[in-house]
Amino acid sequence: MSFPHAHLLGIEPLAPENITAILDLAEEYVTLNRSDTKHGDALAGLTQINMFFEASTRTQASFELAGKRLGADVMNMAMQASSLKKGETLIDTALTLNAMHPDLLVVRHPQSGAVDLLAQKVRCAVLNAGDGRHEHPTQALLDALTIRRAKGRLHRLNIAICGDIAHSRVARSNILLLGRMESRVRLIGPPTLMPAGIEEFGVEVYDDMRAGLDGVDVVMMLRLQKERMDGGFIPSEREYYHRYGLDAEKLGYAKPDAIVMHPGPMNRGVEIDGEIADDINRSVIQDQVEMGVAVRMAAMDLLARNLRARRAG
Ligand code: NCD
Repeated sequence: MSFPHAHLLGIEPLAPENITAILDLAEEYVTLNRSDTKHGDALAGLTQINMFFEASTRTQASFELAGKRLGADVMNMAMQASSLKKGETLIDTALTLNAMHPDLLVVRHPQSGAVDLLAQKVRCAVLNAGDGRHEHPTQALLDALTIRRAKGRLHRLNIAICGDIAHSRVARSNILLLGRMESRVRLIGPPTLMPAGIEEFGVEVYDDMRAGLDGVDVVMMLRLQKERMDGGFIPSEREYYHRYGLDAEKLGYAKPDAIVMHPGPMNRGVEIDGEIADDINRSVIQDQVEMGVAVRMAAMDLLARNLRARRAG
């Protein structure tokens, strides 16, 4: 297994073989998770702390389940309610954490770069569960596993990422990962939701769903991140749905066997039609959730191996 990293802070530092190492190990955990006894011991004796400075349902639950299935002691710290509000600095948080001797720290933070900063201050393996608009590496990895299982490969695919690209760490991590695995990424969305200079990442940019979806293998929809908008990005939700919402007609431009993805949480009737989201012949949205647990088990397992090796000297 080729995974020479102390932390999982983003897709950016990962080589293709590191990505493949996580996905291959995650396959084993998919099998374990489908069995009656969902227990491994890769994290036995280790303490995992989940610190979510921003709301999360599926990512936090997924990391918690992943840690428990591998035998870690898992603690969730309710960060939104406590320290951030009281103005504790990230450095103080790190010192507090060090005193508790965690082995794995899972962090979500509203500011880009905050998780990297914390990783420099704590003495454990850190996993980024989403920092601002920067990265969300386990989401891109679970998306990759879902695509690989549905399409049999990760290279030479045409993948459209649609909607609110500007505010999306999911888009950023996916652009990096899919490019590294030699697939072609198209971004589709209104110019107001497209980050300036994004073409430098080697992607094609479209503002029209018909042209952008033409012949793609994968359609990845993104949530309109209203909490990161301060007005004026879209004329109205109705107009947005009309132009960019995925419905049966627009999906018809993609390949007949194209899969539909969404990281959740979904705004049904805004970026995606509810019937498409629920169509088990096209939508792999539930598979994404399942792959999420397996990918997080694999990532924590690999980081724990490195941690133990470093500590053994
Ligand atoms: C994403 C996130 O938090 O970045 N959600 C998730 O992790 N499943 C995307 C989103 O919030 O729209």
